[in-house]
Amino acid sequence: MTTGSELLTLSPVIPVVVVDDPGDAAPLAEALLAGGIKVIELTLRTPAALEAIANVHKSVPDIVLGAGTVTSPAQAAQAAEAGASFLVTPGTTDAVLDACQVTGLPFLPGASTVSEMMRLAERGLTALKFFPAEAAGGADFLKSVSGPLPELRFCPTGGINLANAPQYLGLPNVKCVGGSWLTPKDALAAKDFGRIEALAKEASALTA
Ligand code: 3PG
Repeated sequence: MTTGSELLTLSPVIPVVVVDDPGDAAPLAEALLAGGIKVIELTLRTPAALEAIANVHKSVPDIVLGAGTVTSPAQAAQAAEAGASFLVTPGTTDAVLDACQVTGLPFLPGASTVSEMMRLAERGLTALKFFPAEAAGGADFLKSVSGPLPELRFCPTGGINLANAPQYLGLPNVKCVGGSWLTPKDALAAKDFGRIEALAKEASALTA
């Protein structure tokens, strides 16, 4: 089973995906794989999300499939049931953390302050999502955190794109970034999976 820290090393970018049509999920996961991206985070933000996760679980077994935007204990259980193999949360509450731990799946808990990061480290959680990255202090914030909290590793997400990703990927405590730019809403609406593959190719060439 992949661990939280292994999740950070699968691809330089974890695509954060919002799907409205559950039928889009498998072809878009195939497009990401064809572009060299080995991981996908399907967010629980639309009514289609759980069905989308189940579709990818069934049809695209080669991609490492995560559920993102887990904000309640029930969602953690539902995502695991649908076939997610990891979970991502934008922030944390004790109830959500407990529920993620009960699934037995690796997960990336979200944090945006030093105190939140320290609380997660106390629980033994050292692979974290830094969200919302750009709004919460960006690469400078993470650089500052590496001094007092050198054991922590981050997947910064929120406001990251191909142009600013290298600022983060150059930091010693960043192993990958997350972002929605690989799966633009208009590309999905047009079912333009070729464009998604091309965006994935560019993203997979980034280096940490
Ligand atoms: C997330 O949930 O991680 C973010 O909404 C993704 O942020 P982005 O759309 O700015 O990439």
